[in-house]
Amino acid sequence: MSSLVRDRLGGFAFGADYNPEQWSESVWDEDMALMKAAGVTMVSVGIFGWAAVEAEPGSYDFGWLDRVMDRLSANGIGACLATMTASPPPWLAHRHPETLPRRADGTVLSPGSRQHYCPSSPVYREHAARLVEAVATRYADHPALALWHINNEYGCHVPECFCDVSASAFRSWLGVRYGDVDALNDAWSTTFWSQRYAALDEVLPPRAAPSFLNPAQVLDYKRFSSDALLECYLMEKEILRRVTPDVPVTTNFVGAWHRIDVAKWAPHLDVVSYDSYPDPHEPDTVIQAAFMYDRMRALHGKPWLLLEQAPSAVNWRTHNAPKAPGEMRLWSYQAVARGADAVMYFQWRQSRGGAERFHSAMVPHGGPITRAYTETAALGAELGRLDAVLGSTVDAPVALVSDWSSGWAVQGSALPSADLGQEETDFAHYRPLWTARVAVDVVSPSVDLSRYRLVVVPNLYAVDVAVAERLVEYVRAGGHLVMSFFSGIVDSAERVHLGGYPGPFRDLLGFGVDEFWPLPPGGAVALGSGGVGTHWSEWITPAGAEVLDRFADGELAGRPAITRHAFGDGVATYLATRPDEATMAAVLDRALAEAGVAAVLPDLPAGVEAVERRGSGGRWLFLLNHNKHAVTVRLPEGSEGAEGAAGAVDVLTGDVLGAEVELAGRGVVVARMG
Ligand code: GLA
Repeated sequence: MSSLVRDRLGGFAFGADYNPEQWSESVWDEDMALMKAAGVTMVSVGIFGWAAVEAEPGSYDFGWLDRVMDRLSANGIGACLATMTASPPPWLAHRHPETLPRRADGTVLSPGSRQHYCPSSPVYREHAARLVEAVATRYADHPALALWHINNEYGCHVPECFCDVSASAFRSWLGVRYGDVDALNDAWSTTFWSQRYAALDEVLPPRAAPSFLNPAQVLDYKRFSSDALLECYLMEKEILRRVTPDVPVTTNFVGAWHRIDVAKWAPHLDVVSYDSYPDPHEPDTVIQAAFMYDRMRALHGKPWLLLEQAPSAVNWRTHNAPKAPGEMRLWSYQAVARGADAVMYFQWRQSRGGAERFHSAMVPHGGPITRAYTETAALGAELGRLDAVLGSTVDAPVALVSDWSSGWAVQGSALPSADLGQEETDFAHYRPLWTARVAVDVVSPSVDLSRYRLVVVPNLYAVDVAVAERLVEYVRAGGHLVMSFFSGIVDSAERVHLGGYPGPFRDLLGFGVDEFWPLPPGGAVALGSGGVGTHWSEWITPAGAEVLDRFADGELAGRPAITRHAFGDGVATYLATRPDEATMAAVLDRALAEAGVAAVLPDLPAGVEAVERRGSGGRWLFLLNHNKHAVTVRLPEGSEGAEGAAGAVDVLTGDVLGAEVELAGRGVVVARMG
């Protein structure tokens, strides 16, 4: 199996963000010794190093970084070298205050934190480009250079800037998208509320306004803002490609889905990277993490890099729980099981001062005689045993469709209900699939769906007819689809599909929706099956669909709540409400069975996750016990050594496994399945 990580590092990428500029050089030798002892193979260097290399505009001092890079290569540690553009030095804002970003209400975001730049600022871009050129040229041939780390978590703090420079860039972007003002007026429905523009020059960002903003303007601004950041990324990438054509580039995506459109960004990364910070206080945290890992893997359909996670507690929530003993290891393997070829942390040495001084690190304030160091070092030693897994991936029979633009749109204002969070909706559909232990790719609706046996569409509110047609064709050709309410309602400019809801999906689903009847906050409606619906209900008039469940009380009593429609060679199931968890699971289980999708491993104890990675080099079954107590798991038939079948071996211990495997509390087994 080809593996970018193996090619660049010889094995797993294991390490952390390394910020040596925060420490005197006397500490660096100890850093190297501790890294070696912990099995570190790669560190991300220089992410916030701009002020340390360019103390004054145009005057570079790379001395300290040269010495760091030399030490890394002398110790056989690769550098994921940052382009350093994530946090401009104070002199940039001091000399060019116009580079500072503005909020929609006009507030200027000051220096003193980080990410205080307007992505559209030509001044920021010019200084960033000059720095990237200098860094790239300096380290192009350095033996430690393994990977380029462009910027850091684009859009994490400032996804949108509303300043005048951004306004002007927005107008240029609109010119490219619409050609002329008439097309924009048409797309934005500006005859409404006297919003008609006479010229593109009159258009502004959706700044603070007296009442509801034009939804198409708001949505386009989100698209524009993601593209403005993408332009910054591409500007840097182009420099790196020119200077170091053979060094792969990445940038680290963040968990919150709504900032940049990662589906649009992903084709521009050589490898997808993700920063994962599950909250130990949150009961569903491992399922939420799994959802994001399935999204990251599906972006390329290849291994991705867990570029940051906390060794223990973070410091940026209101209450920051440490990871319990064994949790960091277990959660790291969860990422590996779901396709990660790297396990990296933020950060190497815990900062003494600054806003992250209480964020955990591999080397805490207490030094290496601490739980964080011992547990991470133990994992580093162990990961080497998994080198054969590098390059393999997860073969998912189920797709969960989640579209960025539609998600932005459905979280807008002046909709039938304000309770339509895309993240929460996606998760409500993902959770039962996780519990059923089926592998899922989280994808955008434009990918090739034909390879999936079941496609789940939690909510696709904004969709153009051509994209909707892909889903219709998927079912016509024999696919199985589960769709939930308020899908297929508007196009990508938020104009309603006329002729009855849900416009492009009416024939597919075999009914029409006459009216939406959203429930009040916390409201519930009884279902005939004995379950309840939450969030939403709607007045459905069947036209061919079979009714699986009905509303049992309220004004819609007796009307369809869950339907099933045989369409072409396939089947489309529809949920006109958000059913309770058990009902949702029953609907999805039925669809999985009809689609012929089986669990990776049946009859597992609750809280045990099973994921298989496979590639040309073999198959590995990851069993992850999220319980504190031990459990017994039956391996699939034929995997034990008996009767000539290849014996499954636990790669972590080398033990040949029998038909039953004992998993310790928070334990992990990685069974090589022949
Ligand atoms: C993000 C950033 C890091 C650091 C961590 C803390 O992932 O990229 O620089 O701030 O959060 O959790």
